[in-house]
Amino acid sequence: MSQSASLKIGRTFLHTPGPTYIPQSVRNAMQRQSYDLADQTFFDICNRCVEALKPIFGTRHNVFIYAANGHGAWDAVAQNLFTEGDQVLLVNNGGFSYWWGEHLSTLGVKVHSVGQGTHAAAGIDAIQRALADDKSKKIKAVLVAQIDTASSIKADVPAIRRVMDALDHNALLLADVVASLGTMPFEMDAWGVDVAFSASQKAMMGPAGLAMVAVSQKAMDVAAANPVKSVYWNWVMRHGADNYTQFGGTAPQHGIFGLEAALERLNQEGLAVAQQRHDRLAAAVHAAVACWAAPGAMAFNVNAPQDRANSVTTILTPEGFASEQLRNYARSELNLVLAGGLGPLSNKAIRIGHMGDLNEAMILGCLAATEVAMHKFDLPFESGLDAAVKALA
Ligand SMILES: Cc1ncc(COP(=O)(O)O)c(C=O)c1O
Repeated sequence: MSQSASLKIGRTFLHTPGPTYIPQSVRNAMQRQSYDLADQTFFDICNRCVEALKPIFGTRHNVFIYAANGHGAWDAVAQNLFTEGDQVLLVNNGGFSYWWGEHLSTLGVKVHSVGQGTHAAAGIDAIQRALADDKSKKIKAVLVAQIDTASSIKADVPAIRRVMDALDHNALLLADVVASLGTMPFEMDAWGVDVAFSASQKAMMGPAGLAMVAVSQKAMDVAAANPVKSVYWNWVMRHGADNYTQFGGTAPQHGIFGLEAALERLNQEGLAVAQQRHDRLAAAVHAAVACWAAPGAMAFNVNAPQDRANSVTTILTPEGFASEQLRNYARSELNLVLAGGLGPLSNKAIRIGHMGDLNEAMILGCLAATEVAMHKFDLPFESGLDAAVKALA
Protein backbone atom coordinates (compact mmCIF):
# COMPACT_ATOMS: atom_id res chain seq x y z
CA MET A 1 0.00 0.00 0.00
CA SER A 2 1.38 3.32 -1.07
CA GLN A 3 2.01 6.05 1.53
CA SER A 4 0.47 9.43 0.94
CA ALA A 5 3.16 11.65 -0.60
CA SER A 6 2.99 14.07 2.30
CA LEU A 7 2.78 11.51 5.11
CA LYS A 8 6.03 9.91 6.12
CA ILE A 9 5.67 7.55 9.04
CA GLY A 10 8.79 7.11 11.16
CA ARG A 11 12.27 8.28 10.22
CA THR A 12 13.54 8.86 6.74
CA PHE A 13 16.78 6.98 6.12
CA LEU A 14 19.03 9.53 4.43
CA HIS A 15 21.80 7.61 2.71
CA THR A 16 23.12 10.08 0.20
CA PRO A 17 26.83 10.88 0.42
CA GLY A 18 25.98 14.46 1.37
CA PRO A 19 23.82 15.95 2.59
CA THR A 20 23.99 13.52 5.50
CA TYR A 21 22.07 13.30 8.78
CA ILE A 22 22.30 16.41 10.90
CA PRO A 23 22.45 15.27 14.53
CA GLN A 24 19.96 16.81 16.95
CA SER A 25 22.72 18.62 18.89
CA VAL A 26 23.82 20.34 15.67
CA ARG A 27 20.26 21.32 14.78
CA ASN A 28 19.71 22.61 18.32
CA ALA A 29 22.88 24.68 18.18
CA MET A 30 21.50 26.54 15.18
CA GLN A 31 18.25 27.47 16.96
CA ARG A 32 19.44 30.80 18.29
CA GLN A 33 19.58 34.48 17.63
CA SER A 34 22.35 36.12 15.58
CA TYR A 35 25.15 38.11 17.20
CA ASP A 36 26.03 41.61 16.11
CA LEU A 37 29.13 41.77 13.94
CA ALA A 38 31.36 43.10 16.71
CA ASP A 39 30.40 40.60 19.42
CA GLN A 40 33.46 38.86 20.83
CA THR A 41 31.33 35.80 21.71
CA PHE A 42 31.00 35.01 18.01
CA PHE A 43 34.74 35.59 17.33
CA ASP A 44 35.47 33.08 20.07
CA ILE A 45 33.17 30.49 18.49
CA CYS A 46 34.91 30.96 15.12
CA ASN A 47 38.33 30.63 16.67
CA ARG A 48 37.29 27.46 18.46
CA CYS A 49 36.03 26.03 15.16
CA VAL A 50 39.26 26.84 13.35
CA GLU A 51 41.36 25.33 16.15
CA ALA A 52 39.16 22.20 16.23
CA LEU A 53 39.41 21.81 12.45
CA LYS A 54 43.22 21.88 12.43
CA PRO A 55 43.77 18.41 13.94
CA ILE A 56 41.08 17.00 11.66
CA PHE A 57 42.97 18.30 8.63
CA GLY A 58 46.24 17.36 10.35
CA THR A 59 47.62 20.85 9.98
CA ARG A 60 49.12 23.69 11.99
CA HIS A 61 48.45 26.10 9.13
CA ASN A 62 45.57 28.42 8.27
CA VAL A 63 42.04 27.14 7.91
CA PHE A 64 39.64 29.48 6.13
CA ILE A 65 35.89 29.05 6.46
CA TYR A 66 33.69 30.28 3.64
CA ALA A 67 29.98 30.70 3.16
CA ALA A 68 30.13 28.24 0.25
CA ASN A 69 29.77 24.63 -0.80
CA GLY A 70 32.40 22.28 -2.26
CA HIS A 71 32.25 24.07 -5.60
CA GLY A 72 33.01 27.26 -3.71
CA ALA A 73 36.11 25.58 -2.27
CA TRP A 74 37.18 24.70 -5.82
CA ASP A 75 36.76 28.35 -6.72
CA ALA A 76 38.70 29.51 -3.65
CA VAL A 77 41.60 27.28 -4.68
CA ALA A 78 41.40 28.37 -8.31
CA GLN A 79 41.22 32.09 -7.62
CA ASN A 80 44.05 32.06 -5.10
CA LEU A 81 46.53 29.79 -6.82
CA PHE A 82 46.04 29.96 -10.56
CA THR A 83 45.98 32.32 -13.41
CA GLU A 84 45.12 31.76 -17.06
CA GLY A 85 47.63 29.51 -18.79
CA ASP A 86 48.80 27.74 -15.61
CA GLN A 87 49.08 23.95 -15.89
CA VAL A 88 47.94 21.29 -13.43
CA LEU A 89 47.95 17.51 -13.28
CA LEU A 90 44.56 16.08 -12.34
CA VAL A 91 44.32 12.60 -10.86
CA ASN A 92 41.02 11.64 -12.45
CA ASN A 93 39.33 9.13 -10.19
CA GLY A 94 35.73 9.84 -11.17
CA GLY A 95 33.06 12.46 -11.73
CA PHE A 96 34.06 14.90 -9.02
CA SER A 97 37.73 14.79 -10.00
CA TYR A 98 36.70 15.40 -13.59
CA TRP A 99 34.37 18.29 -12.68
CA TRP A 100 37.09 19.88 -10.57
CA GLY A 101 39.27 19.79 -13.68
CA GLU A 102 36.44 21.26 -15.79
CA HIS A 103 36.04 24.02 -13.23
CA LEU A 104 39.69 24.97 -13.70
CA SER A 105 39.60 24.63 -17.50
CA THR A 106 36.73 27.12 -17.60
CA LEU A 107 38.99 29.60 -15.83
CA GLY A 108 41.73 29.11 -18.43
CA VAL A 109 43.92 26.63 -16.54
CA LYS A 110 45.40 23.85 -18.70
CA VAL A 111 44.44 20.53 -17.12
CA HIS A 112 46.49 17.38 -17.85
CA SER A 113 44.76 14.27 -16.68
CA VAL A 114 45.78 10.78 -15.57
CA GLY A 115 43.35 7.98 -14.78
CA GLN A 116 40.13 6.87 -16.40
CA GLY A 117 37.84 7.85 -13.54
CA THR A 118 35.91 4.63 -13.93
CA HIS A 119 36.55 1.41 -12.00
CA ALA A 120 40.05 1.79 -10.55
CA ALA A 121 42.21 4.47 -8.95
CA ALA A 122 44.66 6.17 -11.31
CA GLY A 123 47.91 4.20 -11.15
CA ILE A 124 50.81 5.69 -9.26
CA ASP A 125 53.04 4.77 -12.24
CA ALA A 126 50.90 6.88 -14.57
CA ILE A 127 51.16 9.82 -12.17
CA GLN A 128 54.90 9.24 -11.95
CA ARG A 129 55.25 9.21 -15.77
CA ALA A 130 53.17 12.36 -16.22
CA LEU A 131 55.32 14.24 -13.71
CA ALA A 132 58.58 12.82 -15.10
CA ASP A 133 57.53 13.99 -18.60
CA ASP A 134 57.11 17.50 -17.26
CA LYS A 135 60.82 18.22 -17.73
CA SER A 136 60.47 21.99 -17.55
CA LYS A 137 58.38 21.69 -14.36
CA LYS A 138 55.45 23.61 -15.81
CA ILE A 139 52.90 21.73 -13.71
CA LYS A 140 52.01 24.07 -10.88
CA ALA A 141 49.85 21.67 -8.88
CA VAL A 142 48.75 18.05 -8.63
CA LEU A 143 45.04 17.67 -7.84
CA VAL A 144 43.53 14.64 -6.18
CA ALA A 145 40.23 13.82 -4.47
CA GLN A 146 40.93 11.49 -1.54
CA ILE A 147 37.50 9.98 -2.13
CA ASP A 148 35.69 10.58 -5.39
CA THR A 149 32.04 10.50 -4.43
CA ALA A 150 30.79 9.69 -7.93
CA SER A 151 32.88 6.56 -8.54
CA SER A 152 33.57 5.80 -4.82
CA ILE A 153 37.27 5.41 -5.62
CA LYS A 154 39.73 6.14 -2.83
CA ALA A 155 43.14 7.65 -3.64
CA ASP A 156 46.47 7.09 -1.92
CA VAL A 157 47.47 10.71 -1.24
CA PRO A 158 50.81 10.03 0.52
CA ALA A 159 51.90 7.81 -2.39
CA ILE A 160 51.41 10.77 -4.74
CA ARG A 161 53.56 12.97 -2.53
CA ARG A 162 56.28 10.29 -2.48
CA VAL A 163 56.32 10.26 -6.29
CA MET A 164 56.55 14.06 -6.39
CA ASP A 165 59.41 14.05 -3.88
CA ALA A 166 61.28 11.29 -5.69
CA LEU A 167 61.18 13.39 -8.88
CA ASP A 168 62.01 16.54 -6.94
CA HIS A 169 58.91 18.09 -8.46
CA ASN A 170 58.02 21.35 -6.82
CA ALA A 171 54.31 21.41 -7.72
CA LEU A 172 51.75 22.05 -5.01
CA LEU A 173 49.72 19.05 -3.89
CA LEU A 174 46.00 19.85 -3.53
CA ALA A 175 43.52 17.44 -1.95
CA ASP A 176 39.76 17.48 -2.20
CA VAL A 177 38.71 15.86 1.09
CA VAL A 178 35.05 16.82 0.75
CA ALA A 179 33.92 13.19 1.05
CA SER A 180 36.70 11.89 3.28
CA LEU A 181 37.48 14.43 6.01
CA GLY A 182 36.53 12.76 9.28
CA THR A 183 35.96 9.35 7.69
CA MET A 184 39.55 8.27 7.12
CA PRO A 185 43.03 9.37 8.11
CA PHE A 186 44.25 12.58 6.52
CA GLU A 187 47.47 14.28 7.59
CA MET A 188 47.93 17.45 5.61
CA ASP A 189 51.28 18.54 7.07
CA ALA A 190 52.82 15.09 7.53
CA TRP A 191 51.83 14.06 3.99
CA GLY A 192 53.06 17.29 2.41
CA VAL A 193 49.65 18.42 1.16
CA ASP A 194 49.57 22.16 0.41
CA VAL A 195 45.83 22.77 0.28
CA ALA A 196 42.99 20.57 1.48
CA PHE A 197 39.33 21.44 1.58
CA SER A 198 36.00 20.05 2.65
CA ALA A 199 32.38 21.04 3.01
CA SER A 200 29.99 21.02 5.95
CA GLN A 201 27.30 18.66 4.63
CA LYS A 202 29.30 15.40 4.59
CA ALA A 203 31.08 13.82 7.54
CA MET A 204 31.06 17.23 9.24
CA MET A 205 27.35 16.52 9.90
CA GLY A 206 26.05 20.00 9.18
CA PRO A 207 23.81 21.65 6.66
CA ALA A 208 25.38 22.59 3.33
CA GLY A 209 26.79 26.08 3.27
CA LEU A 210 30.29 26.06 4.72
CA ALA A 211 33.51 25.26 2.91
CA MET A 212 36.64 24.76 4.99
CA VAL A 213 39.98 25.27 3.25
CA ALA A 214 43.34 24.53 4.90
CA VAL A 215 46.34 26.24 3.33
CA SER A 216 50.08 25.61 3.83
CA GLN A 217 52.60 28.43 4.00
CA LYS A 218 53.92 27.44 0.57
CA ALA A 219 50.42 27.79 -0.90
CA MET A 220 49.92 31.10 0.94
CA ASP A 221 53.12 32.38 -0.70
CA VAL A 222 51.92 31.26 -4.13
CA ALA A 223 48.60 33.00 -3.48
CA ALA A 224 50.34 36.19 -2.39
CA ALA A 225 52.26 36.24 -5.70
CA ASN A 226 49.23 35.36 -7.83
CA PRO A 227 47.51 38.27 -9.57
CA VAL A 228 44.45 39.06 -7.44
CA LYS A 229 41.22 38.30 -9.25
CA SER A 230 38.80 37.99 -6.39
CA VAL A 231 38.29 39.83 -3.15
CA TYR A 232 35.91 37.27 -1.71
CA TRP A 233 38.08 34.14 -1.96
CA ASN A 234 41.36 35.90 -1.27
CA TRP A 235 43.42 34.15 1.45
CA VAL A 236 45.76 37.08 1.93
CA MET A 237 42.88 39.43 2.63
CA ARG A 238 41.09 36.93 4.87
CA HIS A 239 44.22 36.26 6.86
CA GLY A 240 43.86 38.63 9.78
CA ALA A 241 42.33 39.23 13.15
CA ASP A 242 39.23 41.05 12.00
CA ASN A 243 36.24 38.74 11.93
CA TYR A 244 34.46 40.68 9.18
CA THR A 245 37.36 40.41 6.71
CA GLN A 246 38.11 36.83 7.80
CA PHE A 247 34.75 35.97 6.29
CA GLY A 248 34.94 38.36 3.36
CA GLY A 249 31.89 40.10 4.87
CA THR A 250 29.15 39.02 7.29
CA ALA A 251 29.89 35.55 8.64
CA PRO A 252 27.48 32.63 8.05
CA GLN A 253 26.79 32.54 11.79
CA HIS A 254 24.24 29.75 11.99
CA GLY A 255 26.33 27.37 9.93
CA ILE A 256 29.16 28.10 12.34
CA PHE A 257 27.00 27.45 15.39
CA GLY A 258 26.21 24.09 13.85
CA LEU A 259 29.83 23.45 12.95
CA GLU A 260 30.92 24.10 16.53
CA ALA A 261 28.42 21.53 17.80
CA ALA A 262 29.45 19.00 15.14
CA LEU A 263 33.14 19.44 15.98
CA GLU A 264 32.37 18.98 19.68
CA ARG A 265 30.55 15.77 18.81
CA LEU A 266 33.45 14.52 16.69
CA ASN A 267 35.82 15.42 19.47
CA GLN A 268 33.73 13.56 22.03
CA GLU A 269 33.66 10.45 19.90
CA GLY A 270 37.35 10.84 19.03
CA LEU A 271 38.55 11.28 15.45
CA ALA A 272 40.22 7.87 15.26
CA VAL A 273 37.12 6.17 16.71
CA ALA A 274 34.90 7.95 14.18
CA GLN A 275 37.17 6.79 11.37
CA GLN A 276 37.05 3.21 12.64
CA ARG A 277 33.26 3.46 12.77
CA HIS A 278 33.27 4.50 9.12
CA ASP A 279 35.51 1.51 8.29
CA ARG A 280 33.14 -0.83 10.12
CA LEU A 281 30.02 0.51 8.42
CA ALA A 282 31.76 0.39 5.03
CA ALA A 283 32.74 -3.24 5.69
CA ALA A 284 29.07 -4.09 6.26
CA VAL A 285 28.01 -2.35 3.04
CA HIS A 286 30.81 -4.01 1.08
CA ALA A 287 29.93 -7.43 2.50
CA ALA A 288 26.30 -6.98 1.42
CA VAL A 289 27.19 -5.68 -2.04
CA ALA A 290 29.52 -8.64 -2.62
CA CYS A 291 26.46 -10.90 -2.14
CA TRP A 292 24.23 -8.71 -4.31
CA ALA A 293 26.87 -9.00 -7.04
CA ALA A 294 27.28 -12.79 -6.75
CA PRO A 295 24.74 -13.78 -9.45
CA GLY A 296 26.62 -11.50 -11.86
CA ALA A 297 24.01 -8.86 -12.75
CA MET A 298 25.04 -6.21 -10.23
CA ALA A 299 28.57 -5.15 -9.39
CA PHE A 300 30.78 -2.90 -7.34
CA ASN A 301 31.77 0.04 -9.48
CA VAL A 302 35.26 -0.14 -7.98
CA ASN A 303 37.00 -3.40 -8.78
CA ALA A 304 39.77 -3.64 -6.20
CA PRO A 305 38.76 -3.67 -2.52
CA GLN A 306 41.77 -1.51 -1.63
CA ASP A 307 40.48 1.25 -3.96
CA ARG A 308 37.02 1.35 -2.33
CA ALA A 309 35.96 4.36 -0.28
CA ASN A 310 34.72 4.04 3.28
CA SER A 311 32.16 6.85 2.97
CA VAL A 312 30.18 5.92 -0.16
CA THR A 313 29.70 2.85 -2.33
CA THR A 314 28.71 3.02 -5.98
CA ILE A 315 26.85 -0.07 -7.15
CA LEU A 316 26.21 -0.85 -10.81
CA THR A 317 22.67 -2.06 -11.42
CA PRO A 318 21.85 -4.70 -14.05
CA GLU A 319 22.43 -3.79 -17.71
CA GLY A 320 19.30 -2.18 -19.17
CA PHE A 321 17.68 -1.49 -15.79
CA ALA A 322 16.85 2.18 -15.17
CA SER A 323 18.18 2.54 -11.65
CA GLU A 324 16.31 5.77 -11.00
CA GLN A 325 13.11 3.70 -10.67
CA LEU A 326 14.60 1.89 -7.71
CA ARG A 327 15.66 5.15 -6.11
CA ASN A 328 12.27 6.74 -6.65
CA TYR A 329 10.50 3.71 -5.22
CA ALA A 330 12.81 3.58 -2.21
CA ARG A 331 12.26 7.27 -1.52
CA SER A 332 8.50 7.33 -1.95
CA GLU A 333 7.55 3.92 -0.52
CA LEU A 334 10.31 2.98 1.91
CA ASN A 335 11.51 6.31 3.33
CA LEU A 336 14.98 5.34 2.15
CA VAL A 337 16.96 7.95 0.28
CA LEU A 338 19.77 6.59 -1.87
CA ALA A 339 21.92 8.53 -4.31
CA GLY A 340 21.96 7.86 -8.02
CA GLY A 341 24.73 7.29 -10.52
CA LEU A 342 26.36 10.45 -11.84
CA GLY A 343 27.74 11.39 -15.25
CA PRO A 344 28.27 8.24 -17.33
CA LEU A 345 26.68 6.19 -14.52
CA SER A 346 23.49 8.20 -14.61
CA ASN A 347 20.50 5.82 -14.35
CA LYS A 348 22.95 2.87 -14.28
CA ALA A 349 23.98 2.83 -10.65
CA ILE A 350 22.92 3.56 -7.12
CA ARG A 351 25.18 5.01 -4.48
CA ILE A 352 24.88 4.31 -0.77
CA GLY A 353 26.28 7.06 1.39
CA HIS A 354 27.70 5.80 4.68
CA MET A 355 29.31 8.83 6.23
CA GLY A 356 28.59 11.14 9.10
CA ASP A 357 26.22 10.55 11.98
CA LEU A 358 25.47 6.88 11.28
CA ASN A 359 25.45 3.72 13.34
CA GLU A 360 25.19 -0.01 12.76
CA ALA A 361 21.42 -0.29 13.01
CA MET A 362 20.97 2.58 10.56
CA ILE A 363 23.22 0.97 7.96
CA LEU A 364 21.47 -2.38 8.37
CA GLY A 365 18.13 -0.64 7.90
CA CYS A 366 19.42 0.97 4.74
CA LEU A 367 20.73 -2.32 3.34
CA ALA A 368 17.54 -4.20 4.21
CA ALA A 369 15.29 -1.56 2.67
CA THR A 370 17.48 -1.51 -0.45
CA GLU A 371 16.86 -5.26 -0.72
CA VAL A 372 13.11 -4.64 -0.46
CA ALA A 373 13.42 -2.24 -3.41
CA MET A 374 15.55 -4.71 -5.38
CA HIS A 375 12.91 -7.42 -4.82
CA LYS A 376 10.23 -5.03 -6.01
CA PHE A 377 11.99 -4.81 -9.39
CA ASP A 378 12.96 -8.51 -9.48
CA LEU A 379 16.66 -7.75 -9.69
CA PRO A 380 18.79 -10.89 -9.60
CA PHE A 381 20.76 -10.67 -6.35
CA GLU A 382 21.60 -12.74 -3.31
CA SER A 383 20.69 -11.27 0.03
CA GLY A 384 23.65 -9.64 1.74
CA LEU A 385 22.00 -9.04 5.10
CA ASP A 386 23.55 -11.99 6.84
CA ALA A 387 27.00 -11.02 5.55
CA ALA A 388 26.46 -7.41 6.65
CA VAL A 389 25.35 -8.52 10.12
CA LYS A 390 28.39 -10.78 10.43
CA ALA A 391 30.68 -7.95 9.30
CA LEU A 392 29.37 -5.92 12.23
CA ALA A 393 29.16 -8.69 14.83
C1 LIG B 1 34.58 14.88 -3.67
C2 LIG B 1 33.66 16.03 -3.90
N1 LIG B 1 34.17 17.20 -4.30
C3 LIG B 1 33.38 18.27 -4.52
C4 LIG B 1 32.02 18.20 -4.36
C5 LIG B 1 31.17 19.39 -4.63
O1 LIG B 1 30.58 19.80 -3.44
P1 LIG B 1 29.22 20.65 -3.42
O2 LIG B 1 28.12 19.80 -3.95
O3 LIG B 1 29.06 20.98 -1.97
O4 LIG B 1 29.45 21.85 -4.26
C6 LIG B 1 31.45 17.00 -3.94
C7 LIG B 1 29.99 16.87 -3.76
O5 LIG B 1 29.45 15.84 -3.50
C8 LIG B 1 32.29 15.90 -3.71
O6 LIG B 1 31.78 14.74 -3.29
